[in-house]
Amino acid sequence: MEIPKNRLLPDTAEINSLGHLEIGGVDTVELVKKYGTPIYLYDEMTLRNRMREFLSSLKEAYPKSKVLYAGKAFLIKKITRILAEEGLGLDVVSGGEIFIAKESNFPMENVYFHGNNKTIEELKFALEVGVGNIVVDNLDELRLLTSLVKRRPVNILLRLTPGVDPHTHSYISTGKVDSKFGFQLNSKDLKTAIELIKTDAFLNFKGLHCHIGSQIFDTKFFRMAAEIMAEQIVIFTKEWDLSVEELDLGGGLGIAYKPDDDPPTPKEMAVSVADPIGEVCSREGIKHPTIILEPGRYIVGNAGITLYTVGTIKEIPGIRKYVSVDGGMADNPRPMLYQAEYTAFLANKMNKPKAETVTIAGRFCESGDILIDKASLPKVENGDILVISATGAYNYSMSSNYNMCPRPIVIGVNNGKEEVWVEREKYIDLVRLQR
Ligand code: LLP
Repeated sequence: MEIPKNRLLPDTAEINSLGHLEIGGVDTVELVKKYGTPIYLYDEMTLRNRMREFLSSLKEAYPKSKVLYAGKAFLIKKITRILAEEGLGLDVVSGGEIFIAKESNFPMENVYFHGNNKTIEELKFALEVGVGNIVVDNLDELRLLTSLVKRRPVNILLRLTPGVDPHTHSYISTGKVDSKFGFQLNSKDLKTAIELIKTDAFLNFKGLHCHIGSQIFDTKFFRMAAEIMAEQIVIFTKEWDLSVEELDLGGGLGIAYKPDDDPPTPKEMAVSVADPIGEVCSREGIKHPTIILEPGRYIVGNAGITLYTVGTIKEIPGIRKYVSVDGGMADNPRPMLYQAEYTAFLANKMNKPKAETVTIAGRFCESGDILIDKASLPKVENGDILVISATGAYNYSMSSNYNMCPRPIVIGVNNGKEEVWVEREKYIDLVRLQR
């Protein structure tokens, strides 16, 4: 096996003299001996590299810009601390995510609160702890917000539905005309919202937002969305006399999950949105807004891997060989939800040639709990350490206790040292809230 060149594995991935996979200078096989499996393992250097790359790519394409990390991809206190150090803001979608930011003293003015059905409690909590920006999704929310904001003005952005289909899985496509998210363009609701904003002194209109979807491989969709939003800036400025200080174009940049995946770079994404915005604003003589992008997957996806131990192996002659691991759909529901494809390695056999194609099955009680349909690996044996790469985004954050299995430990590695970021759940945690 070899380390793929397309940044599928963390930037620090190496094969050491024992033929073991090393991440962040730490031998993953040794790590497993110490902590058991499954492990969600993150490489801190890759996290920081991706954050810096995104910030500098956008700054270069469009100096007046900000990057927010989309916390839904993976949010724990450690991540918010790294974000603050690296100078990124944070996109949150729930009271729980706001709480995590607050617990780690994240600067609240750099937090943007999204969601199509924020509860009254969540909005109150956001206002109480000083969340800097509320991305208003619909008219009901705007009305609720006006009833809550009576003392200090609150910054708001309006989420619009640009009607762009980004050709990704329909569950992660959000900007099409038929979407639960955002105001439809030119709609009656949007007009009513604008009138309300103009009459309520406590609603400080800051700008517009859209997000077309996730795991996008063709930057032309980002360009299309930016073109549509540029037209909206013109309408808001000239027809409504509302100046758009910020234009948040969401996240969605795709990443590599397989050795031959070739996703666009942050630079390509940045250019695809900066060009149309810059052109339209110059042509129309409108003040150039701050452009905001909200990558989630790109920042954390390839920085993480999951380590499992191979348990039982079952061969059905002429059909397939099932290799079962000690995790599955509860720690990575993405294959079942989105038919997501992943790549496997054997951490203890990185120098061995590929010898067979097997199916990687999870340990949960469903036939559909298959992590990889066809994995090409060296000869697999009971006790091998199986790695699935690119599990850093939307794995821990979407994990569950299905079959009453405790969630895995989360470990970060950096400069030859490991650090436990989230402890492994114990059986006692499973009954902690039960009466
Ligand atoms: N901004 C907004 C408003 C979003 O809704 C999302 C993702 C992002 C930013 C970040 O998108 P990213 O850069 O991560 O693609 N659970 C699914 C992905 C759902 C994405 C939801 N929204 C998955 O595992 O593929």
